[in-house]
Amino acid sequence: MSALRSTMLAAARSARLERTVTRLPVSRAVVARFVAGTTEQQAVDTARTLLRSGRFVSIDHLGEDTTDLASAQAIVANYRSLITALGSLPHADVTTGAVRPLEVSVKLSALGQALPHDGHAIARDHAHQICAAAEAAGLWVTVDAEDHTTTDSTLSIVRELRAEFPWLGTVLQAYLRRTEEDCRAMAGPGSRIRLCKGAYDEPESVAFRDRAEVDASYLRCLAVLVAGTGYPMIASHDPAVLGAAEVAVQSAQRKTEEYEYQMLFGIRSDEQQRLADAGKHVRVYVPYGDQWYGYFLRRLAERPANLGFFLRALVGG
Ligand code: FDA
Repeated sequence: MSALRSTMLAAARSARLERTVTRLPVSRAVVARFVAGTTEQQAVDTARTLLRSGRFVSIDHLGEDTTDLASAQAIVANYRSLITALGSLPHADVTTGAVRPLEVSVKLSALGQALPHDGHAIARDHAHQICAAAEAAGLWVTVDAEDHTTTDSTLSIVRELRAEFPWLGTVLQAYLRRTEEDCRAMAGPGSRIRLCKGAYDEPESVAFRDRAEVDASYLRCLAVLVAGTGYPMIASHDPAVLGAAEVAVQSAQRKTEEYEYQMLFGIRSDEQQRLADAGKHVRVYVPYGDQWYGYFLRRLAERPANLGFFLRALVGG
């Protein structure tokens, strides 16, 4: 990992920098490239547009590292309201077999996972409420992956909730050394695993830090998921990953509705549309809300060109 990327990822966790950056007059316009808006209505409008274009959607209410119970409860209320609004979109018309075209993505740290007393149980109960609302509205839920200190708690909550909501998905990060084994454990019937490279600054002891090693791990993990009996969700913008994934799913003779590609809102939209037009299932991860700082900094860290875009807007603004 480059020094610049490490610095950006450290900045993503700085409350002081967050206060400064979010006050800059140019921020909102620049952030709009990666975030659908600050309101639920903007998120729903974006979902409607994407569905009409033939793409599926996962909406993320931005927020992470919640430090008090009231804030975690407020986030659950936001999700319930969002799910109701999304449920009224005409998604049932989309012909997808068992695949649900609309989904929400949740971060357990936003739901209270890090609270000092009973954080794990609080996050589990909050996630349960969101899953129950999603089930009633015909949506799916996928639990995002955060830094490695949360992985055990997150996977155990997902395993527990899957007994009641077997469609509940989760994210595995190929940069973690443990992930190939987690893929093996979780590639069984009905599982929905979103495989991504990983977006946090993790120590060498738990993660591959060299780009080539991360890419090689991604392909090994993907092979495990594709050979399994679950529903792999290939989350990457990397042409090399996408090419290898297509070869892997074809040689495993998976049908279109037995896997999907996923990309982030605002990143390689042309490629998203090209895949969808070619008949592939493509889901776009759409974040919205006020708390865009951490998400935005992680996107800047991924690609120096994104950082240049931000700095040019600052100078120009
Ligand atoms: P990477 O960033 O390595 O880029 C490889 C290549 O892709 C580039 O060289 C370029 O060719 C192409 N590319 C990338 N960005 C481009 C751009 N803007 N324009 C043109 N080409 C571009 N992480 C996490 O830790 N927890 C999570 O829960 C999630 N969730 C998640 C959901 C979804 C749907 C996605 C797509 C990603 C995540 N991530 C995530 C983020 C993920 O871990 C990772 O940081 C980013 O996807 C970037 O990795 P890539 O695989 O896209 O390739």
